[in-house]
Amino acid sequence: MDFNENNATEAVLNSFARIEDKRLKQIMNSIITHLHQVVKEVEPTEEEWMKAIMFLTKTGQKCDDRRQEFILLSDVLGVSMLLDAINNRKSNEETETTVLGPFHAPSVKINNGDNIAKTVSGENCIVSGKITDVNNQPVSGASIEVWQSGPDGLYDVQKGDDIVDLRATLETLDDGSYMFRTVKPQYYPIPVDGPVGDLLQNLDRHPFRPAHIHFMVKSKGYKDLVTHVFIDGDKYLESDTVFAVKKSLIRKLEHGIDDESKEKCLLLNFDIVMEKE
Ligand SMILES: [Fe+2]
Repeated sequence: MDFNENNATEAVLNSFARIEDKRLKQIMNSIITHLHQVVKEVEPTEEEWMKAIMFLTKTGQKCDDRRQEFILLSDVLGVSMLLDAINNRKSNEETETTVLGPFHAPSVKINNGDNIAKTVSGENCIVSGKITDVNNQPVSGASIEVWQSGPDGLYDVQKGDDIVDLRATLETLDDGSYMFRTVKPQYYPIPVDGPVGDLLQNLDRHPFRPAHIHFMVKSKGYKDLVTHVFIDGDKYLESDTVFAVKKSLIRKLEHGIDDESKEKCLLLNFDIVMEKE
């Protein structure tokens, strides 16, 4: 029988008959069913379809070791946060999760108290907190990876190949506490010099994310935790372009004195609760 509008979806689904991997089959069936439905509903012209193909082509071409345009696309379309919600349904009082984002990269190990701001300067800030389990017992020796943008709104990976700055890995002490020095993070636009930037412009959306520090926390026997701490009062908290803000992750910056330098600094407290695996 000729392939036509009425039998198109069935014809492709039938071609999956020999797939043995049940999960792959389920995913392919769902993708084709929905994709065909979109095409039938929207009835794109051939020019429009080519435009879509070129958009995805440019998205791939923009990717390299330090730039991930597909993660950015997934982020601005709310897919990353939907995936996060599905995979991290809260069962207890554990800290909420949020997107990994496109700027995670290898970092260096530091000791508690070290400064992760190597080349940038800004308002000095001490970040500290305690990691506990849901029964309020300290989680010692947990690995905490942190990364953030500087006062210019840029991550190190956006600046040059050799720069590692404003990112580090440290471990919690016996009482579950951690502390590092840094500079105050700033709200920033996601990179707009690629196809995702063009998309946002066409959709009349701004590209900004409210100020935050990324955390990835791991400890044996606990679920890995990928989250951010957001800064209270930021003007983009209500309209994060990647939909990643959760109220429980917003913290106030306090004013204090750095014990070591005796200078004024900002204090950011972020306690984290981990869930057993
Ligand atoms: Fe970020």
